[in-house]
Amino acid sequence: MKKKVNIYKLPKVNSWDEFYANRSWPPVPKHEQDVLFKNEFLGKYPKGTSLLEVGCGDGKWSAILSSRFKVTAIDNSANAIKEALALCKVRKINNVEFLCGDALNAEGQYDIIFARGPSFLNFPSADVRFVSNFKKLLSLCTQEVIFNIASRTPFEVWKPSGLLTPLADVDSPNSQWYHHDPEILKTNLAKLGAAHISYEKHKARIYASVKV
Ligand SMILES: C[S@@+](CC[C@H](N)C(=O)[O-])C[C@H]1O[C@@H](n2cnc3c(N)ncnc32)[C@H](O)[C@@H]1O
Repeated sequence: MKKKVNIYKLPKVNSWDEFYANRSWPPVPKHEQDVLFKNEFLGKYPKGTSLLEVGCGDGKWSAILSSRFKVTAIDNSANAIKEALALCKVRKINNVEFLCGDALNAEGQYDIIFARGPSFLNFPSADVRFVSNFKKLLSLCTQEVIFNIASRTPFEVWKPSGLLTPLADVDSPNSQWYHHDPEILKTNLAKLGAAHISYEKHKARIYASVKV
């Protein structure tokens, strides 16, 4: 049986594969789901809209999204995809297409790109790589990129959270976690398209979207 974890108290692991081999994310928080399914984010899109979930992890969000959207889900951890396939099998969900690979090399066109806790948008942040990664996501969709990410004060500093430092972060070897400042994020996203940001301070969470 895998250990349940608190996101802020994860022991250090060296890769997402190692993470998924030993641990599980908690169930999808009901509150986050409610916010994301509001009209300002996912709720305005009709049933059957195509959606690519990037960094889908163990598929808990993919399973929920599949009740409304035509979901393709990608993660570059093979163990994450293994977990996601097993979860969908147990829940008898057979309309999600899972891909194992780098979301930043993904191809195709989808109406929506969705990401929850996309680590490649956290390491590091308000810099050139954030913008180029985000532009890549925008290039994959015809309507909107929608994402939801943890953030809390103090913003704009590296926080040693105990979470792994991914390979993408090799040029910032002492960094582990980055907290977006919602105001800076808003300014940066507005340069890329029509942006909308909602920051819930009490939940330490940012919900954001950019229309193509
Ligand atoms: C913080 S976890 C979030 C997982 C899931 N979205 C959730 O909310 O439970 C970040 C996920 O992004 C995946 N990931 C990181 N970089 C990636 C990349 N370049 N392409 C695809 N997936 C990536 C990791 O393997 C991990 O599953």
